[in-house]
Amino acid sequence: MFTCPLSADVYLRILEQRDAEPLFDLTDRSRQHLRCWLPWLDQVVRLEHTEAFIAAGLRQFADGLGMQAGIWRGGCLVGVAGLHPIDWPNRQGSLGYWLGAEQLGQGLATLASRALLRTAFLDYGLHRMELRAATGNLRSRAVAERLGFTLEGVARDAEWLYDHYVDHAVYALLADDWQDLA
Ligand SMILES: CC(C)(COP(=O)(O)OP(=O)(O)OC[C@H]1O[C@@H](n2cnc3c(N)ncnc32)[C@H](O)[C@@H]1OP(=O)(O)O)[C@@H](O)C(=O)NCCC(=O)NCCS
Repeated sequence: MFTCPLSADVYLRILEQRDAEPLFDLTDRSRQHLRCWLPWLDQVVRLEHTEAFIAAGLRQFADGLGMQAGIWRGGCLVGVAGLHPIDWPNRQGSLGYWLGAEQLGQGLATLASRALLRTAFLDYGLHRMELRAATGNLRSRAVAERLGFTLEGVARDAEWLYDHYVDHAVYALLADDWQDLA
């Protein structure tokens, strides 16, 4: 299975069914901070919902459409980073990530995303990676900017978040630009 060391005690590993309990527990502990920017918290209220997410991620990987990986630190699951389903006709993918509430501010999302960009451009051979964040999600936008993504524009009312729409800041990184950053 896909595993990728990120530092001495941090690694990415594709999520498997044995990770369902720690992933559900992490989600449950982080609900309040995740709810600010992720739309699916009300659909993940029981372990079986996390199991279904993991199963969908494994199907996605088997179908060559990307993956959903856990971020592990010191043997504990601390977040999730993934490549959303790849748009093969256009050789395009997009990144998503979240961290447990206690794991912010240590560079883990940036580190994990950097590794997924290598996977996207080198292993999958993609041409363009997109990263979308609500315009008010300054922490996520900072990750995109730290990774060298270019802000291409704002998609208005692009996502329904429980009781209101948010605009998306649309960032992208092309394979050639990524190689220039290396
Ligand atoms: C988006 C999210 C993952 C960003 O988390 P984050 O901790 O701010 O991002 P990183 O893990 O990359 O850490 C960056 C911080 O660590 C610091 N840092 C320390 N070491 C670092 C390193 N080696 N490399 C990069 N940053 C480092 C940075 O200076 C930055 O600190 P700051 O917050 O004081 O500016 C987090 O806010 C989250 O889970 N949000 C809810 C879900 C969400 O919004 N997902 C994205 C939807 S688009």
